Amino acid sequence: MCGIVGYVGPKEVVPVILEGLRRLEYRGYDSAGIAVGTPGQEKLEIRRAPGKLRNIEEVLRQHPLHGTYGIGHTRWATHGRPTEENAHPHRDCTGRIVVVHNGIVENYIELKRELTAQGHLFVTQTDTEIIAHLIEEVQKQAEAAGTPIPLEVAVRQAVKRLTGAFALGVLSSLEPDKIVAARFGPPVVIGLGKDEHGQGEYFVASDVPGILHHTRNIIFLNDGDMAILTLNGIAFTDFEGNPLERKTQRVTWDPIQAEKGGYKHFMLKEIWEQPRAIRDTTLGRISLETGQVFLNEMAIAPEELAKVTSINIAACGTSWHAATAGKYMIERLARIPVEVDYASEYRYRDPIADPNALGMLITQSGETADTLAAQREMIALGSKTVAICNVVGAMITRDANGTIYTHAGPEIGVASTKAFSSQITALFLFALHLAQVRGTLTPAESLSLVDELSRIPAKIQDMLQNVSLQCEELAKSFSTVRDFLYLGRGIHFPIALEGALKLKEISYIHAEGYPAGEMKHGPNALIDETLPVVVLATQDPNDPGSRLRYEKTLSNVQEVTARSGRVIAIAVDGQQDLVQLVEHVISIPPAPELLLPLLEIIPLQLLAYYIAVRRGCDVDQPRNLAKSVTVE
Ligand code: F6R
Repeated sequence: MCGIVGYVGPKEVVPVILEGLRRLEYRGYDSAGIAVGTPGQEKLEIRRAPGKLRNIEEVLRQHPLHGTYGIGHTRWATHGRPTEENAHPHRDCTGRIVVVHNGIVENYIELKRELTAQGHLFVTQTDTEIIAHLIEEVQKQAEAAGTPIPLEVAVRQAVKRLTGAFALGVLSSLEPDKIVAARFGPPVVIGLGKDEHGQGEYFVASDVPGILHHTRNIIFLNDGDMAILTLNGIAFTDFEGNPLERKTQRVTWDPIQAEKGGYKHFMLKEIWEQPRAIRDTTLGRISLETGQVFLNEMAIAPEELAKVTSINIAACGTSWHAATAGKYMIERLARIPVEVDYASEYRYRDPIADPNALGMLITQSGETADTLAAQREMIALGSKTVAICNVVGAMITRDANGTIYTHAGPEIGVASTKAFSSQITALFLFALHLAQVRGTLTPAESLSLVDELSRIPAKIQDMLQNVSLQCEELAKSFSTVRDFLYLGRGIHFPIALEGALKLKEISYIHAEGYPAGEMKHGPNALIDETLPVVVLATQDPNDPGSRLRYEKTLSNVQEVTARSGRVIAIAVDGQQDLVQLVEHVISIPPAPELLLPLLEIIPLQLLAYYIAVRRGCDVDQPRNLAKSVTVE
């Protein structure tokens, strides 16, 4: 995700910002920029470059910048390609105000229209640029009314107009040595330091490592907080301008730990980031008033989608599991038959051409060789293709007719977690969109599902702490076993497969996923008192189909317990029948059945994680595996 570093103080600002951005490189980025101000200068100077930090360093070598206050940004592209123009900082019409932003402005199209009508000129496609113009407009109107306002007041008024999520850093050349920072969603940290002469210096960043080499005295902004950094110190207010007290914390993490945000491993950090990843993947794509889903960036017209008669999805590994869950969603909501292939199998099985079939490729990296080959095969067979991908501009997106980007942010742990839940979210949105263009859902049904989806991040947030403790405890009893079995039925089956994959990848314990109803056709022979069996035994009691599947799964659980198998059941809060039947129950909050996978996967990821940690495995970089598999 984007990185922000800002500085006000006695030092030359450029090296401080570049060093900070370098320490945020682990967050992933594809372009960088910096804005610097010097008292007396009419405009703020900006340098930007696509690609890695060495590119902007080269630009700065050729066109150096000097100043005492400034802000830098590394951009992980979400909307708009990673070009020089789309890189931050962005300016207003006068070049006096610049903004860096992490997050998404949902209502930017509406605001852009309004500001354009007021005469503002836009030079980029980004949502961020509107923030600079909005602040300019607020100040212009106040000036015209004869009551000029300082930058922080203008920022306050501007952020009240934004919907979405933002971490902001704003500078104005008219108010030197000042940075205004605001948070609503993505994190913002403030640092208080002193240079070698004891003079105060102040920092803002999107994450602690960006400033840790200068100070360990950190303030974490809350949602709705603003910070005004000047040479005289830092003032905190809410968005109404009421002063706030914010406590300074002494951070004792070492730099590597700091990159992990204090978590022991990237994988654990990424598991905890899932509420944010799901929210960001949903943001701007749904209307909570009408239930409509907007996938405008997919670039396949609704009329064309309405004509699709079948869908072929190809993917690998975890993405294949997401695809298989997606099959249940699409078939259930949009009533279109879906076939899911391992990408490595697709082109070698001589698939049958159908010009009315839509091809889909699911890949977090967008660079997986097998998936790219499957895409080529689909195109050769005359299908249009849609990609679900986490990396803007990745290979898969270039030949796709449309891409639905997941906004998980860079995933560093090799075992996929937040990319998976973002893929499931994107597939749910796609299924809903398809259902809406085909008229297979009533507006009331759409509205209810969209509403339920919007509640998932908070449900995950609420359960994470308890489920973590429970899984850590369970890991003590199960880390020495040799095999695990994971069972699920319907949409819960691919989640069982994903749970088994997580365990084998990072703990090297043999684990298999199976459809619950298949047990009696062979695998029952494996069951004895040493075999842990993880059963996805969740249900939506309001859905008769889900209740029926649950009852059948309950019979399968009984088959296991009757043979002394050790069951760990994942169940919805309050399923008392299971509590009496099995050794361990992990409870998750209720949700409609098609959304339960987003909740079920959390304990499965955490169980795998804590077992692997107890076994002393290299959780973030498991043996023999790579993050991006670019060979067939
Ligand atoms: C497992 C995992 C892999 C990937 C697979 C496809 O945790 O990450 O199974 O899902 O290699 O990768 P992408 O999604 O990049 O195509």
